[in-house]
Order: sequence, then C-alpha cells, then structure tokens
Amino acid sequence: MTSPAPFAAIILAAGMGTRMRSARHKVLHRIAGKPMLLHLMDAVDALAPAEKVVVVGAGRDQVEAAVAGRAKIAVQSEQLGTAHAVRMAEDALAGFEGDVVVLYGDTPLVKAETVARMLDRLHAEDAPVAVVLGFRPADPLAYGRIIADTDGRIAEMVEFRDATAEERAVTLCNSGLIAARAADLWPLLARIGNANAAGEYYLPDVVTLAAAEGRACVVIETEAAEVAGINSRAELAALEAAWQARRRAEAMAAGATLLAPETVWFAHDTIIGRDVTIGQNVVFGPGAAIADDVTIHAFCHIEGATVATGAIVGPYARLRPGAELGEGVHVGNFVEVKKARLGKGAKANHLTYIGDATIGAGSNIGAGTITCNYDGFNKSLTEVGEGAFIGSNTALVAPVKVGDGAITAAGSVITRDVPADALAVARGRQEERPGWAARFREKMRASKAR
Ligand code: UD1
Ligand code: MG
Repeated sequence: MTSPAPFAAIILAAGMGTRMRSARHKVLHRIAGKPMLLHLMDAVDALAPAEKVVVVGAGRDQVEAAVAGRAKIAVQSEQLGTAHAVRMAEDALAGFEGDVVVLYGDTPLVKAETVARMLDRLHAEDAPVAVVLGFRPADPLAYGRIIADTDGRIAEMVEFRDATAEERAVTLCNSGLIAARAADLWPLLARIGNANAAGEYYLPDVVTLAAAEGRACVVIETEAAEVAGINSRAELAALEAAWQARRRAEAMAAGATLLAPETVWFAHDTIIGRDVTIGQNVVFGPGAAIADDVTIHAFCHIEGATVATGAIVGPYARLRPGAELGEGVHVGNFVEVKKARLGKGAKANHLTYIGDATIGAGSNIGAGTITCNYDGFNKSLTEVGEGAFIGSNTALVAPVKVGDGAITAAGSVITRDVPADALAVARGRQEERPGWAARFREKMRASKAR
C-alpha cells in the first residue's frame, strides 16, 4: 500500500482521558492485548509515512515509553484543544511540505486503507483543502457533526456542545481524522480561536474557516466500527467486542472451526492455521501461533506459544510464553507448559507442570509430573530424551537429565541424571506387615470400650 505523495502522520495523545478513571493513559489501554496507540502506529506504518509525530502532554512519560523511539514527540503542556495540539507538532515538522494526516489516539482501529483513501481524495482533480473522515454511528451521541452536501462538500463542522437541535439531528459524524497539505494546514490552524462552549481550540474549525472562504473541504465516509472513539471503559469494552467479533469471522473464513465463536478470545497477533478446531472458552494472549490440523479443547489459555500440526491441547491446558509443542503432541487437562519444547508425538496428558525443559520426541510424561525448575533464586533446565517414560507423580529436580528410553518409577524424586534406557527408582521402598491392620483395629476398639 502506498500514499500518493509523502505524508506526515500526527497522532494526538495529550489528553489523559479522565473519563477512563485510570492511572494509565487512555491511549495505552489495550485492545486485543495491544495498546491503542500501537494499533494506530502499526496502521500508519503500513503506509510508510515520511514523518510521524505523537503529541503528548498529560501522562507523557507513559506515552513516550510506549512510543519507544518509533515517532517524534511533540509536547502540549496544557490541553487547550485538538487544534492547539496539532499546532504543537509544527516545529517537529519544520521544512516538511507534503501532506499531513491527523489521527486521534483514542480512535485506534483505523485501517491503513482508509488513511490511503483520504490521501487519494486530497489529490483528486478538485484538490480539496482538507479531507475529513466521517461516519454514521447507530447512535451519534456527542460526536462532532459534519454539515455537508450530498457530494461530500462540507459547509461547516460543529461540536455537539455548540450544535443547534437541527445540527444535532445530522447523522454524519466526525471521526477526528483529517488530511490536508502542510502549506494549507499551518496557516489555517494559526487562525483558529476558542470562542466556543468548551473554550477550546477545535481542529474541525480548520474546515469551517476554509469553507467560509469558499475553499472546498470534503468528507469521505467509513464504517462506524472502524472509527468509534474510546472515552470510557464501557466504550473500550464495546470496541474490544467488535474487534473480537471481526477476528472470529476472519478465523472461520480462513478455515478454522470455532465451536462457540462468541467465547473465543484472540490477541492482535494470533496466528491460526487451517482445519484448526477451537472449543469453547479458549483465550489467546499475545504471541500464539497454531499450525494446521490442531485441536484445542475447551477452557485453554494460550500465550507466547507455538503449536505444531496435529497437536491436541486441553481441555483446561495452559500454554505460557516459550511453550513449543511439536507435531502431534498431546497436552491434556490441567497441564501447564512454560519455556519448554515438547518433541514430536510427546504426551503430557494430566496434571503436570513442565517449565524450562526439553522433552524428546515420543516421550510420555505421567500424570502429576512436575519439573522443579526454580529454587527461589535460579531457574534450571530439565532435559528428557526421546522415548522416555516419566512415571506418574515424578518430581524432576532441575538441573537434571533423563536419557533416551529411560523410565522413572512413579512417585520418584529425580535429583541425579538418569542414563539412557535405565530405570530410576527414587522413593521409599514398600514393606508389608501381615495382620498388622487387623491387630491395630482390635487394640483401638478395646481401648475405646474401656
Ligand atoms: C473529538 C472531536 C469530535 C469528534 C470526536 C471523535 C474536536 C474538537 N472534537 O471529540 O468532533 O467527533 O473527537 O472521537 O476535535 N487531545 C490532545 N490535546 C487536547 C485535546 C485532545 O492531544 O488538547 C487528544 C486526546 O488525547 C484524544 C484526541 O485528541 O486522543 C481527541 O480528544 P477528545 O477529548 O477525546 O475529543 P472528543 O471530545 O472525543
Ligand atoms: Mg474522544
């Protein structure tokens, strides 16, 4: 995807977002496990912008840390409105003469295609001064309204607080996104005042000023779900739900079976292969990649893990970061895997913790096996070879190695390496005392009777 001319993106993120009632800056709240601001930066980056500026103010340390050098930073120390915020980016863009697109940090799911469409429209034959991205939400709430003719030529933009009843009845709303040439934008911004209900410098006034002079500004429209703004936790949850619904539909369209789609939760980067079956109430955290023909039964939590073809996971399994399940691996109920590689065909079907380990192909890990990987100070490695059989309720005290084909007896506490093909028994030896139980009961009954 390309833009018609070099462009700069300005992302406004100076307002703290008080309606979130959070110590965390609004644009750092997450959708599908990724901060809103990074959703926007990724979308913009897909168009290879010449410049990127994030305008920060309230909570700037948090925002700058999240930007992590991916964009220039401009500071708006007092939040005097969106137009004022954009002006704060002018110095950072000194000498830049291309197009400028302004995005709002709290409108995070804008698609790169849509930004490209705005820039294309800016370069259409009629060369408008500005292109505004509009939408028609089911409930227009307190969004700013766009007063435009049927060709999309804008007469005026009005904030909800300043709008008349007639203007409020208009269903075309302002997403906040606007594109203009640098040469038009900066002089218009300098003329904007704050004589309005909020006493703020409104960015949409750029359009109203230009339109009043007969210079064409136009609106193009997009779907409401793409540009819903987030001002509260409830709106955050609603957008997350919309994102999840879209992702589930994509997963099914790409060949996955979701037994109860509305209960499956994806992360922004989840990769799902073909003919994958996902049961009810499965949650993916960031960094999960599931290959073709995998079955994930109900109630699994999977994050930072890769699962190879033909594997069967769950129900009730937890795959944590660094879990790598090889081809055809079985990981069953109440099994937790962290930073561990299970080779082709290995099985751990019940009640097990495998952390900081490698398990060779074809090995069987018995119920209740635990890798004791942490001594309170260090993490140590457990290495199980191929075709090994770890008996039920084995504690593998790391660092420790169990060789290929070795067997550990059930209930063993393995503290030393086990050679290939050996049996390791490390538990109290059983002893039987004939008649002892009967004599014991007799004695106890007699003492009770007294
Ligand atoms: C804004 C628009 C409104 C539009 C809506 C879409 C204005 C005046 N209003 O209203 O027309 O329908 O978005 O969601 O533009 N910000 C700053 N500095 C400031 C003020 C805001 O950086 O001084 C940033 C905020 O952090 C936020 C974005 O700009 O990311 C929008 O600000 P917000 O206060 O949420 O504006 P809305 O009331 O939603
Ligand atoms: Mg907003």
